[in-house]
Amino acid sequence: MSDNLPNSTPRHVAIIMDGNGRWAKERRLPRQAGHNAGAKAVERTLKAAQKAGVEFLTLYAFSTENWIRPQDEIDGLMKLLEQTLDRYTKDAAKNNIRLWVSGEREPLPAGVLKKMDYAVTATAQNTGLTLNLALNYGARQEITHAVNALLAEGKTSVTPEDFQACLYHPDLPDPELIIRTSGEERLSNFLLWQAAYSEFYFTSVLWPDFTEEEFNKALDAYRTRTRRFGGI
Ligand code: FPP
Repeated sequence: MSDNLPNSTPRHVAIIMDGNGRWAKERRLPRQAGHNAGAKAVERTLKAAQKAGVEFLTLYAFSTENWIRPQDEIDGLMKLLEQTLDRYTKDAAKNNIRLWVSGEREPLPAGVLKKMDYAVTATAQNTGLTLNLALNYGARQEITHAVNALLAEGKTSVTPEDFQACLYHPDLPDPELIIRTSGEERLSNFLLWQAAYSEFYFTSVLWPDFTEEEFNKALDAYRTRTRRFGGI
């Protein structure tokens, strides 16, 4: 838990990127067009976060629940991820971005895993912003993954610190700010442990329309919040 003075920039911003499908529907386009436009919004947001001095950006790219979508949509999203990871690996070296991934590997396609592993290794030494891609991510899965790791260690009693040490990325600071686009106001199995003291920012803007200006609006809203962490 980091301690924030008013007017500070959050170290870690996490985003539930929602509304790609509705964006496409409004334009009578296939859903994939919404995801493609969403990928452009990802690039804009990365730049905005770097410019603002954010250190960690977690993006909810694919949830453990998204596998129930039609197979052609899943295939399209996986292909887009592969292409983006490819392009991103080149840019990341230039932009000094480090890639982390949070989620379960199974049943991600081999092609995605290959590009993902390559991107993580190729950017591991970068010292700028850390992009943590929540991919095949579910918070309940992360929590049970941690519990199973602790059981495997033979623990019969644990502290919050022991638990933190078994999360996908123990060194990831808690997000001070969680943004969700498209007007939905729920967490959808995202960072349940880490969100204990997060501030929430909801906007009706659909993810493909998300811009640097919208990102900065969320940061400004965060700066007006008083964070007491249970104190007075
Ligand atoms: C939610 O919109 C978005 C997703 C399920 C996936 C997020 C994916 C992207 C932004 C595309 C590319 C990402 C990366 C990291 C390259 P939705 O389909 O649930 O929209 P809807 O609720 O309007 O149907």
